Parts: sequence; C-alpha cells; structure tokens
Amino acid sequence: MMQPIVLGIETSCDETAIGIVRGRTLLANVIASSVEEHARFGGVVPEIASRAHLEAMLPSIQRAVTDAKISLKDIDAIAVTAGPGLVGALLVGVASASGLAQGLGRPLYGVNHLAAHVSVEYLTHDKPTDPTIALLVSGGHSSLLQVDDITGSITKLGATMDDAAGEAFDKIARLLALGFPGGPAIDREAQGGSPTAIDFPRGLTTSQDWQSRPYEFSFSGLKTAVARYLENTPRFVRADVAASFQEAVVDVLLLKALAACKSTGINSLVIAGGVAANSRLRAVAADRCEKAGVQLRIPAAGLCTDNGAMVAALGSLMLSSGRPATHGAFDADSSLKVEQVNL
Ligand code: KG4
Ligand code: ZN
Repeated sequence: MMQPIVLGIETSCDETAIGIVRGRTLLANVIASSVEEHARFGGVVPEIASRAHLEAMLPSIQRAVTDAKISLKDIDAIAVTAGPGLVGALLVGVASASGLAQGLGRPLYGVNHLAAHVSVEYLTHDKPTDPTIALLVSGGHSSLLQVDDITGSITKLGATMDDAAGEAFDKIARLLALGFPGGPAIDREAQGGSPTAIDFPRGLTTSQDWQSRPYEFSFSGLKTAVARYLENTPRFVRADVAASFQEAVVDVLLLKALAACKSTGINSLVIAGGVAANSRLRAVAADRCEKAGVQLRIPAAGLCTDNGAMVAALGSLMLSSGRPATHGAFDADSSLKVEQVNL
C-alpha cells in the first residue's frame, strides 16, 4: 500500500514553510523567509512576519504541490504548527491549514513546533528511534528532553533559565557587528579563529549546579563575559572571540546532553533546532558521542532551522501511529509547552 501523503505548514516565526512527505519520504520543502525585512531591526518584527505569511502562503503551497508532483486532492492529512511562536504568525498558519483541511475533507493535526524540530530527524530512519535524549536548541527555546514516543510522550529534563542558545548567538553576533541572524554568521567567522583563545565561562557547571540543576542552561553570564571582554580589549580578534564564544556554548550543551544520556541509560541523542546547524556543535558532538558510546543523530543542516518538512514529518508520524486528529476549530497557543505534542 502507498504510504499516506501529509502536508505540513509552519509559520511560527519568520519562515512561511510548506513541507510534503509520503510516509517518511520527503517530497517537497518550500521556504519563503521574511528575514531580510527584519534584518534592519536586528530581530523579528511580529507584524511584518504576519503580513509576509499571508502573502507567501498560497504561492508556497502551490509550489510545494508542484515540487512534490502531486495534486491537492492526493493529500491525506494536513499538519500545522499550533505553537509555540508569535501568535499572529501562528494564526495565519492555523487558519490556512483549517481551511485547506476542511476544503479537502482531510484530518488536521495541530502540532508542537518543538516536537516537530526533533521529529524531522525521523525522516531519515526506517526504524523507531525512541527512546532518545533530545537536545533542542533554537532561537526561542533550549531544552533537554527525554523522548519515549515522539508522538505523545516527551519529558522535559531541563531548559534554559534565561536566553535560548540561538538567542545567545544572535546577541553576540550583534556585539561583533556580524548581522542577523547571528548563528550562521558566528559559525562562519569562527572558522578563522581559535576556540581556545579566550576562556569564556560555562554556565551552570559548578559542582553545586551539577547537584541541583544538572540539565538547566544559562547563557546570560557568557553574554556578559563576552561584552566585558570586548570593552576591555580594544584590539580584540573578532574570529577568536566568535570561536571561543561558540566553543563555550557547544561545550556546555554537550556536557549536559551526554550527562543526561548517562544518567538515564539512554544511549541515543538527537540534536535539533536551528543551532543544530552549527558546524562546530556537529563536529564536537560526533567526537564526544563516539567516545561515550552514544548513537548521535542530527538532521541535515538544511532541515535544522524552521521548515515545513518537520511539521509534515510529525503529522505523518501521528497519522501512522493512530493518534487522533485535532477536532473542531482550535486556536494557536503561543506558549505551548514542549511536553504537549499536539492539540
Ligand atoms: O529553529 P530556528 O530556525 O527557529 C526557532 O524555532 O527559534 O532557530 C533559529 C536560531 C537563530 O537564533 C539562529 O541564529 C540559530 O538558530 N542558528 C545557528 C546556526 N544556524 C541558525 N546558530 C549557530 N550556528 C548556526 N550555524
Ligand atoms: Zn524553530
């Protein structure tokens, strides 16, 4: 039997993204970003994002259907990001998805953006990858999760107490005049620098922290340390600052993720979210996981930042595991908790 086709819609931030999968096979992944319209403000402006989603929605759906070489009526189910994210931006996606699902007479799954980030990795594996520890690092969220079943059983082990990892990259990039979004810019700049040039602090890694909050993150002290270093060092080497800052983030993320693997006895780690595209994080993770005997899975770099394929992937997994669709009209939930996989 042919596997069902699922179309996923993602509009939680500044990407209007449509993905189409058949079972676990990716058929289309269309991304229209309004990032350039936000760049001069140094961050995403919600009103601009909502308007851009409205304009990009129909052309993006049309392009995805064309890329997938299907027609709209071939779609078996629709999935949409219901939260967390910018409420106005989410609403455009939810309204579009509801209309499409009703028009086609197909089930609709309102799904969690964070779980979707993790589930995109499942597109590349035939066998279930549960249980796993997941390190979810994006612009809005950073948490360590125990995933027993990606379609319904996610436990939060810890999260950031202040900035998200991606947010830290974005803020340091601004200090270094590297533009927005900062992650890719720091990643590039760091290639020419030394990760050991400056010994920046690793947040929440004292022995006291390991006792009381082993899986929490904090990046605000690191941000202050970088700012102070720049103030006190007029002739700083930008590439060294970028590489040393990046190293501090990567080090602490992996220390905590591998500690979670060890204490739960789960020898599997998925790293997901925009920061998982970071080349240094990918390299150091590969090295440390191999040494620790932990199986590492990271989505292809292009599927780490926001996309529709991840939403379609989670919808497809929900459908194949017999999870009920979302009934009736539903609102977007801008602060949807990571443990709640669907509405
Ligand atoms: O997952 P994502 O696309 O959106 C959210 O759900 O937040 O993550 C965006 C974040 C941004 O903060 C961006 O700077 C960061 O991911 N990012 C990176 C890299 N590519 C994107 N951070 C570090 N290195 C990268 N190569
Ligand atoms: Zn995201």
